[in-house]
Amino acid sequence: MSLPMLRIGLFGFGTVGQGVWKILQSQSQSLQNRTSREIQIEAIYVRDVGRYKIQYPELPFVNSPDAILNNPDIGVVVEVMGGENPAKELVIQSLRKGKRVVTANKELLGKHKSELFHEASLHHSDIYFEAAVGGGIPIIRSFKVGFSANSIQSFFGILNGTTNYILTKMSETEGQSLASVLSEAQSLGFAEADPTMDISGADVAYKLTILAAVAFKIDVGISDIHFEGIESIDSDDIAYARQFGYEIKLLAMGKQLDANSFVLKVHPTMVPIHHPLASVRDEFNAVFLTGDSVGEAMLYGKGAGSLPTASAVISDLIDIAFEGQGPGSARNLETNYRKVAVEKIEDQETRFYLRLNIQDIFGVLEKIAAVFGTNHISLANLIQKERDESTAQLVIVTHKVPEKNMQNAIVQLKQLVEVLSVQSVIRVGLD
Ligand SMILES: NC(=O)c1ccc[n+]([C@@H]2O[C@H](COP(=O)([O-])OP(=O)(O)OC[C@H]3O[C@@H](n4cnc5c(N)ncnc54)[C@H](OP(=O)(O)O)[C@@H]3O)[C@@H](O)[C@H]2O)c1
Repeated sequence: MSLPMLRIGLFGFGTVGQGVWKILQSQSQSLQNRTSREIQIEAIYVRDVGRYKIQYPELPFVNSPDAILNNPDIGVVVEVMGGENPAKELVIQSLRKGKRVVTANKELLGKHKSELFHEASLHHSDIYFEAAVGGGIPIIRSFKVGFSANSIQSFFGILNGTTNYILTKMSETEGQSLASVLSEAQSLGFAEADPTMDISGADVAYKLTILAAVAFKIDVGISDIHFEGIESIDSDDIAYARQFGYEIKLLAMGKQLDANSFVLKVHPTMVPIHHPLASVRDEFNAVFLTGDSVGEAMLYGKGAGSLPTASAVISDLIDIAFEGQGPGSARNLETNYRKVAVEKIEDQETRFYLRLNIQDIFGVLEKIAAVFGTNHISLANLIQKERDESTAQLVIVTHKVPEKNMQNAIVQLKQLVEVLSVQSVIRVGLD
């Protein structure tokens, strides 16, 4: 028996929107065979209809969102315009009209998921967001369904293709600076013209709040999360990391300490070379997780791009097509995310890598060692390398130490006249 056609409205028709249209075109018959429903784009809202009509004269562009919001035949909207506004208002309006919402917008969900989920449940609708984290990797569905028998103990994610591409290229081309790899990445289309959200770690922090919700059923905002970007990573750090047996990756980490306490953070991390995440290269994404029943598992794939991201959007449309026209699916809609404590970064313990520029004079190492001693920091590795006649680079890897001890030590190191600069501080390992 054939079900009624699923009519969708698109907000936005850029990289992802066009990918959605392409897949719906190329897979139309197989999608229909699978779901017993035809999926059709009924209207596409863009700002400048004329511009899009030149390239796609046959498509149903509209120049007002009302043409989608007020069309009762449109049961599903796909928000692929990005940004906070007007996306937020359009999503809320759609939910209030009982339309299901599919979105790829991590910023919107990262900032407003509680409010949006609440609206969805009030109006017996639903929000689907497989494309918001990990692009084509079905990570949301994996946490919600595939691993649902598990209590998730931890996950570690490489969730930003741009920064992973940059770190990979810096590691492959000895000595190339972040700025030069970034401009190369921009010319190849792997990085945005304004890469601030990517480089600063904010993009990953938004994604981490979404993964924390589906993995741990908790409600955290970006302000609860300590995040750092890759701005200060230098080619020297990458070379030393390799020498010590690590690759530097920008990692999102989620760890359950007990029922009400979690570690959630984003920062560059030295990942042991033999760990599966160390081999995730270029623009690829991956999530490595540990569940109490499944043990360790890893999902890997393209975290961005037109068709990979559209593939995730379409998977949400297929879910909706299967569910028919009833109220929101109990499986997808979860509004009971708990507010919990996120452990402060100062209270965590980790190993550290430090790179200092120092005066190459007698007695300097004793003074530096005294700072570490005072702060109960013990050293695992130390390399001193002459830079010129009067200065040297000192590279140190510590044993596990409380963050606050290391922060104190850094302040004290900066006060030593013999320490010219603390160039890099990078956390080591996944514990
Ligand atoms: N690109 C990826 O690989 C990727 C991966 C994962 C998630 N995402 C997410 O997917 C969403 C879309 O990304 P994208 O790369 O497809 O963006 P994009 O290429 O910049 O396209 C955005 C589209 O939305 C339209 N739009 C933007 N603001 C609008 C407004 N105020 N009113 C009407 N139309 C507006 C744009 O129209 P104009 O042409 O008129 O500006 C364009 O058609 C974002 O939330 C992004 O974070 C993207």
